[in-house]
Amino acid sequence: MILDFGSQYTQLIARRVREFEVYSEILPWNTHIDRIKESRPKGIILSGGPRSATSPDAPTVDISLLDGAIPVLGICYGMQLIAHKLGGWVEKGRLGEYGRTKISFDPGNISCINSGLPDEIDVWMSHWDEVRGLPEGAERFASSESGSCAGFTMFDGRLQGLQFHPEVESTEYGREMLSRYIFEVCGCESNWKLGDWLGRALEGVSKTIGESDTVICGLSGGVDSTVASVLVSRVAGERLDCVFVDHGFMRRNEMSQVLDMYSALNLRVHHVDASERFLSALKGVTKPERKRKIIGKLFVQIFEEEAVRLGGAQWLLQGTIYPDVIESGLVGGDVIKSHHNVGGLPKKMKMKLLEPLRELFKDEVRRIGPLLDIPDHFLKRHPFPGPGLAVRCLGTLEKKRLDILRSADDIFISEIREAGLYDSIWQAFCVLLPAKSVGVAGDVRTYGETVALRAVESLDAMTAESVRLPWELIERVTKRICGEVPHVGRVVMDVTGKPPATIEWE
Ligand code: XMP
Repeated sequence: MILDFGSQYTQLIARRVREFEVYSEILPWNTHIDRIKESRPKGIILSGGPRSATSPDAPTVDISLLDGAIPVLGICYGMQLIAHKLGGWVEKGRLGEYGRTKISFDPGNISCINSGLPDEIDVWMSHWDEVRGLPEGAERFASSESGSCAGFTMFDGRLQGLQFHPEVESTEYGREMLSRYIFEVCGCESNWKLGDWLGRALEGVSKTIGESDTVICGLSGGVDSTVASVLVSRVAGERLDCVFVDHGFMRRNEMSQVLDMYSALNLRVHHVDASERFLSALKGVTKPERKRKIIGKLFVQIFEEEAVRLGGAQWLLQGTIYPDVIESGLVGGDVIKSHHNVGGLPKKMKMKLLEPLRELFKDEVRRIGPLLDIPDHFLKRHPFPGPGLAVRCLGTLEKKRLDILRSADDIFISEIREAGLYDSIWQAFCVLLPAKSVGVAGDVRTYGETVALRAVESLDAMTAESVRLPWELIERVTKRICGEVPHVGRVVMDVTGKPPATIEWE
């Protein structure tokens, strides 16, 4: 169990644990102590966080969690919190340590976490406060270059603190240290297998919806909602109706391609053309969060209307995945974006929500696909956000601008396919900017639209890096977009990573 104190790396801790095929879940720091103990975690990791453990309103844990009964590993803020709660001395350091830093393991004091590792390693630090005095019974086993405590252990290793971030790639031996904590201290076993998960998920859905409830699913054409609906169809069969709401923000020919694929998957899909409704609801709206909220709300409204038309359903199935839940601020951190299938939901909904993929990361969802006989070419489709082109057409949403974006996007993607690069890229797309620029074509001054190209590499969409596309490809795409798409006068390339940017622009 990971208790989140607001660190940007919290999800990464969960991913790392799952890489060892050990199930992990993130809960907010203020989860009630009874709930924590009732779920009988094999071990607890206290994440980092932006606050100071000594400030009176700092996020905290119940002290009974730190009696050594359940193994606890505190990382950064988590370590300072343990020290502070157990009578140690935590204070703002003189300098703070940020980025790659050397630590040395103190000879003679070896925690199982570092046994067999070199005496000195590079780690990732990001802290201002430091532990100056240890709680009684604690032993320091690591020190940073500045001499401050980088790791301590107590209760025979059942309580450990690390000042650095073992979950971050730049920490040498980070995986080894986490693995020792997880397997040697907590005694976990590698049993989080996706095949087993699927069995449990099918059982869970079956229990949840019983033998007579009906389910309606909003399909988006993306991997998440497809995997979710095929999974539920295995249990619900004819009791599942899928609704494909065409919000008018689809890419070129997407509707017909996706409907063909669904018929091959034997899903009963009702196609609703709501493009006019969406466009009129979004008239004049330019703020990203407002766009997302309006789209989310209208989606749910249309689903509900459809459910009534189809004779009523008790459950609304959604392909919500873990990063959606985290980024919508439902776990502990800041709201980054309201993902339309999480943040846009009204408080009072007539249908109950069924979200079987809620605990999976994207790559895990992709790996579940083949187990449900979903064809590879479908699973390899680049992710596409629920609100579609509405969050890629910056500024006002008008049919004309959306058509420009569709044409440009079509050229970009078909050239990427032609170059044989589609499958090796996580996601590529065009964005239409709300900025016009001056150009010259055939000796005539033009004042045209600007298209941005974006192609990113990612593992789970939590972080991303820009893809270094071949220059010839970028040139060809630029030439084609400016030549073939009316009103476009300029093409630019977005090479920003996530962070600091997000993948989508809105
Ligand atoms: P960001 O832009 O947050 O996107 O870096 C991360 C990944 O999520 C996709 N995305 C969405 N998917 N509903 C979705 O189903 C949404 O509202 C949404 N917004 C972003 C995005 O395309 C990227 O793959």
